[in-house]
Amino acid sequence: MQFYIKTFGCQMNEHDSEIIAGILESAGYQAASDLDEADVIVVNTCCIRESAENKIWGYIGNLKACKYKKPGVILAAVGCMMQQNTIDELLHRQGKHLDIILGTYQQHRLPEYIARILAGEKQIVDISEDNHDFPDALPSRRVSRFAAQVNIIYGCNNFCSYCIVPYVRGRERSRDFSAIMAELQSLASDGVKEVMLLGQNVNSYGKDWRRQGDLHAPDFAAVLQAASQVAGIERIRYMSSHPRDFSAELVDKISELPKVRDYYHLPLQSGCDKILKAMNRGYNTGDYMSILDKIRQKTPGAAITTDLIVGFPGETEEDFQQTLDYVARCRFDAAYTFIYSPRSGTPAVSLAEQVPLAVKKERLQRLTVLQNQISLELNQAYIGRKVAVLVEGLSKNNADFYTGRTASNKIVIFRGRPEQVGTIIDLTVSGAKTWHLESL
Ligand code: SAH
Ligand code: SF4
Ligand code: F3S
Repeated sequence: MQFYIKTFGCQMNEHDSEIIAGILESAGYQAASDLDEADVIVVNTCCIRESAENKIWGYIGNLKACKYKKPGVILAAVGCMMQQNTIDELLHRQGKHLDIILGTYQQHRLPEYIARILAGEKQIVDISEDNHDFPDALPSRRVSRFAAQVNIIYGCNNFCSYCIVPYVRGRERSRDFSAIMAELQSLASDGVKEVMLLGQNVNSYGKDWRRQGDLHAPDFAAVLQAASQVAGIERIRYMSSHPRDFSAELVDKISELPKVRDYYHLPLQSGCDKILKAMNRGYNTGDYMSILDKIRQKTPGAAITTDLIVGFPGETEEDFQQTLDYVARCRFDAAYTFIYSPRSGTPAVSLAEQVPLAVKKERLQRLTVLQNQISLELNQAYIGRKVAVLVEGLSKNNADFYTGRTASNKIVIFRGRPEQVGTIIDLTVSGAKTWHLESL
């Protein structure tokens, strides 16, 4: 039997899909090279914004054609969108042809459910929260030979007022410290050079244990320090961190870790204090700027990226202007910018002053123009500099070139050779664009 997995959503979902692939392979399935070959099709879903959901329902709708062509094919939808409590109604309308629906807690049971469908059972829905995360030490089939993702904490306690994640991923649960380290060791001995430590809020690592009275429980800095000791792993990244929990001491500790210190992703969301408060972010623009100052003082060459939302309910033109001014002051290397999307079940959805879509789009446009200009200027400052690049492979956009990343997470396009893939090479930057550097 062959399986095909289509993944939507964030890095966490991508990694979940790697684990699902690993589980299916160890249950005797093989990866299909394309959809039509597959006996089992798994869609790993995301509900962070309405646009994501619409795209996924479209994809799921199209799978009906696979059932016509191959009536025995098993269709499974798993992940965040399936964990929402409104899912029953939606499945009734748009997901009748799905055989298996699993939420974020039950995905490891996929082989068992496939067996039940093969034995004749009709649609199985399991979105119960009674079990936890992927059990430790499950096999995973990595997409990359030399880069890997490692879960360190599951769930989120922050309840930002716009966000669905805490409702579909549950409360924070830190993963056992020694299990993380064992996984890192095993990845290193497998030739992995770069790891991404994953969690919705990695800085909360260990807080759940400390709240329960274990005052000596390791914290996020301890994870970074121990991970830095793993020989063979050259670069350590993490996603995402929350500015509220990003202390000056953490910056001090990171600045001592060469494998970690060149790149920060710190989601700002808004540059207006009134909106940050309404978002329940737990910091203001002054707090955020002190972290940036601290980072730039300790590691002047580090790149800093962010996430921003425009059109949160109640955001006036003046509030938005504050965000523009603030973003101009922050000078981020890049920003992932989003239009606020009302998510059912979150507090922000019932706020009175929803911003019209046309206004949101226009604000996104202005923010993008500003940020692109800043990104370009910061990238241009790299021209003439020598950078260490971890080579990823052929460029997806142009097969004449190779692509890789600097320690500061900048994409570099260059003329490479196949044997360089997975190694770190020195290149001199010759050109700069908004989203990448060139060494040509
Ligand atoms: N835990 C991560 C967020 C994961 S979601 C963090 O706090 O950084 C990634 C990004 O999606 C968020 O940072 C936010 O900018 C955006 N986002 C989340 N909910 C959204 C919504 N309802 N509408 C628009 N963007 C949203
Ligand atoms: Fe969502 Fe906020 Fe948690 Fe990030 S920190 S996952 S934005 S609730
Ligand atoms: Fe989407 Fe779930 Fe990630 S909602 S952004 S896949 S945690």
